[in-house]
Amino acid sequence: MLMDAIHLLSIFYALVFLQTLSIFCGTADDTMTSNQSITDGDKTLVSSGQSFELGFFAPGKSKNRYLGIWYKTTPDVVVWVANRDNPLTDSHGQLTITNHGNLLLLNRTGFLVWSSNTSMVTKDPVARLLESGNLVVQEKNREADSEIYAWQSFDYPTDTSLAGMKIGWDLKTGLERYLTSWKSADDPSTGEFTLHMDIKGMPQIVVYSGTSRTLRSGLWNGVMFTGMYVNGDPVYESIFVFDENESYYMFKPKVNKDEVTRLRLSNSGNLERLVMHNTEWTTMSSMPYELCDRYGYCGANGVCRINGDPICDCLKGFTPKSQQEWEVLNWSNGCVRKTPLDCKNGDDFVKLVGVKLPDLLEFWLNKSMSLQECKEMCLKNCSCAAYANSDIREGGSGCLMWFGNLVDVRELRVKDTEQDIYLRLPKSELKSINGKRKLNTILIVSTTSCSGMFVMALVIWCIFWRKRTNGRGQGSKIEDELELPLFDLAAIISATNNFSAEHMIGAGGFGPVFKGKLSTGQEIAVKRLSKDSGQGFKEFMNEVNLIAKLQHRNLVALLGCCIQGEERILIYEYMPSKSLDYFIFDDQRISLIGWRKRFDIVKGIARGLLYLHRDSKLQIVHRDLKASNILLDINLNPKISDFGLARIVEDDEKEATTRIVIGTYGYMSPEYAIDGKFSVKSDVFSFGVLLLEIISGKRNRKFIHPNHDHNLLGHAWLLWNEDRALNLMDASFGDSSDECQLLRCIQVGLLCVQKFSHDRPTMASVVFMLENEGAVLPQPKEPGFFMERSSNEESSSKLRNEESGSQNAVTLTKLNGR
Ligand SMILES: *[C@@H]1O[C@H](CO)[C@@H](O)[C@H](O)[C@H]1NC(C)=O
Ligand SMILES: *[C@@H]1O[C@H](CO)[C@@H](O)[C@H](O)[C@H]1NC(C)=O
Ligand SMILES: *[C@@H]1O[C@H](CO)[C@@H](O)[C@H](O)[C@H]1NC(C)=O
Ligand SMILES: *[C@@H]1O[C@H](CO)[C@@H](O)[C@H](O)[C@H]1NC(C)=O
Ligand SMILES: *[C@@H]1O[C@H](CO)[C@@H](O)[C@H](O)[C@H]1NC(C)=O
Ligand SMILES: *[C@@H]1O[C@H](CO)[C@@H](O)[C@H](O)[C@H]1NC(C)=O
Ligand SMILES: *[C@@H]1O[C@H](CO)[C@@H](O)[C@H](O)[C@H]1NC(C)=O
Repeated sequence: MLMDAIHLLSIFYALVFLQTLSIFCGTADDTMTSNQSITDGDKTLVSSGQSFELGFFAPGKSKNRYLGIWYKTTPDVVVWVANRDNPLTDSHGQLTITNHGNLLLLNRTGFLVWSSNTSMVTKDPVARLLESGNLVVQEKNREADSEIYAWQSFDYPTDTSLAGMKIGWDLKTGLERYLTSWKSADDPSTGEFTLHMDIKGMPQIVVYSGTSRTLRSGLWNGVMFTGMYVNGDPVYESIFVFDENESYYMFKPKVNKDEVTRLRLSNSGNLERLVMHNTEWTTMSSMPYELCDRYGYCGANGVCRINGDPICDCLKGFTPKSQQEWEVLNWSNGCVRKTPLDCKNGDDFVKLVGVKLPDLLEFWLNKSMSLQECKEMCLKNCSCAAYANSDIREGGSGCLMWFGNLVDVRELRVKDTEQDIYLRLPKSELKSINGKRKLNTILIVSTTSCSGMFVMALVIWCIFWRKRTNGRGQGSKIEDELELPLFDLAAIISATNNFSAEHMIGAGGFGPVFKGKLSTGQEIAVKRLSKDSGQGFKEFMNEVNLIAKLQHRNLVALLGCCIQGEERILIYEYMPSKSLDYFIFDDQRISLIGWRKRFDIVKGIARGLLYLHRDSKLQIVHRDLKASNILLDINLNPKISDFGLARIVEDDEKEATTRIVIGTYGYMSPEYAIDGKFSVKSDVFSFGVLLLEIISGKRNRKFIHPNHDHNLLGHAWLLWNEDRALNLMDASFGDSSDECQLLRCIQVGLLCVQKFSHDRPTMASVVFMLENEGAVLPQPKEPGFFMERSSNEESSSKLRNEESGSQNAVTLTKLNGR
């Protein structure tokens, strides 16, 4: 009632003031007093150091108006929204502050759209946008940084956490600060996902979709969250406070670091860490990054191992609940005990190390017990399934006991957590495990390949910043964790004769490629990213992170990288026989590779692509498959290269969308070129184009025919329908060709370039169809893009020019070999 009265009064005041007020036009102040207002279109608040701006905006394609805070240099990055669930439908919103310090957002007819609902009455209140991005209400005469606020936007986050913002609980007032995703890029209203500091038992950060958990940081062990590699970041510092008054996570920029970073809960529930680099935002890490990050991916009592084959396994003493489902890689039902616990006749424990401890669903915690006491207590209680120290500091202390199912256990990439868990097993199980000692130690030793992007991203950054600041110290530890070798810049300079022109073998938008010879005699290809532009940094990170973990005979191997000062260099295996386009699009050279060899090349590319799509466990879409990105080794075995544009997709059929379409004309599928949608099926399209190019020796885009205006796809389609498909092959085939094989290849090519992505086969089917002569192939439907001869090339998309290294191009084109 009182609040209502205050509101009405405030509205009254506000209206009176608005009548008499001359509005400040276009001024940028950081403070609003009670006789001022902020009106849509007229005025904004700008923080003292020009970092943040508060005002009205319309997100994306929406026509609705919202009051929000954004980065002044990147206005489309909105970090806070006031009226997220109550938009203004026109641009006549007004923000005022009452004499009592309540912020009011009114629509044109004076109705309250949003208010700060401040309880504290402030004398002579002002609203101030701080340099931290925090909008605060405080007494006018207080220093801006006094940290005594009647109200602050940092207490009511939307989807973004900024430096200095607490995520978690004020245990005295019961205030919880948590993130809630936007609904979509056009709609900031309360979305599906929330991020909370869960303080039941040991604290952990949890992302929810509605009420179900989708992502979990792992338990706080006194030092860190076990499943989230947050410590040791070079750019920002993580702060955790868990005491009787407060429970929160916060980050702060490191001293002398003016990098701007933010943490965001994306509309699809990913927890993203972003860094601004020359007013461009780069995603440094995104969780979940891999399948094992997904909450409970392997079901109850399962354990997820990213390098395991299969990825899910049962915990020791457990067996799949449904063997059939487990065999078809459906893990959802998890595992059950092989043998029931035998409480009376005694059970014992097996130790697991280097895992993220199970979620605290049914548990018991005593922070002062020792491990031995914990063990005894667990043994006494027949429903105790496992126990562990709750805190790893000073040799470990506290007792955590789990009852019921153990959920969301994964093998960690960084295994120095020192928080072991003891699983309870009946003695009979333990005997059989001891009999199979090798198996027993799998979890304990197993793999720590340097591959996790999350860790990798941090590691790369660590190195990057360490080198940049010439710091020494933590470096050697980082290099230990990085299995990808780091090359010394001096060695690269000497290998390429100081990047001399004679060593240059290719050039693209992001920098030249050099051939080099290490002192060991090994030949290498050196991709040196241009240092004068921030452009390409994203692609660099992307490429390193992806390729480091890919190993397949049909993919170019990354040997290492070099990051020193401004230099960012990738070192690849050298491919002496140049790229595929060098052969197939040249009238003379094409005769060097006969049909049999070409068929081998086709199969090799298909297998490499299948590995990316399915077998590497990461589901990667290459996005720029083309003849010039297929390198050939000395035996003309194909290797797919250039992962600068590659993306990890969630699952293979799902389409992702990008705002900036980057690719190469002639190879892009309709849905990608037109709508920016990419999936494994857009790679299948590119593969189909490539296959038809290999058969015909003609470029899809450059194709010219005296009788019609179609491109190569259209030409192939016409021939196919006229039963003259064999005419597609280039003149050099001679007798070496096998007509049946050739026809099948053309049919596969046409199937791959079908207009609708759902009609196209997966790469698994393609490999099968290519390798099995008996396979029955469906009839292809009309290809996509077979007539779009003169499509508008200057459209908004950034495109790669196949012929010359254009400014926007990411690829290394005109490559003479690596
Ligand atoms: C607004 O109020 C302040 C005192 O709070 C006063 O100094 C200032 O002159 C007033 N401005 C206008 C435009 O009335
Ligand atoms: C202002 O808000 C009220 C209440 O929601 C609504 O009835 C009215 O139409 C709004 N006025 C404008 C101009 O949007
Ligand atoms: C905000 O308003 C709601 C009702 O609209 C009330 O229940 C709540 O106590 C208010 N909070 C404060 C801090 O005044
Ligand atoms: C908690 O708050 C009380 C009262 O404000 C204070 O005395 C105490 O020192 C605080 N505890 C911590 C750990 O900050
Ligand atoms: C996996 O098994 C569960 C339970 O039997 C079933 O509901 C679900 O649809 C299966 N998932 C898939 C992808 O087949
Ligand atoms: C926790 O353990 C300690 C030491 O064994 C004991 O003194 C204390 O009573 C226990 N607390 C609870 C709540 O069980
Ligand atoms: C085991 O521990 C749980 C949780 O503390 C408790 O509810 C249960 O009663 C205990 N059972 C026995 C047999 O002690």
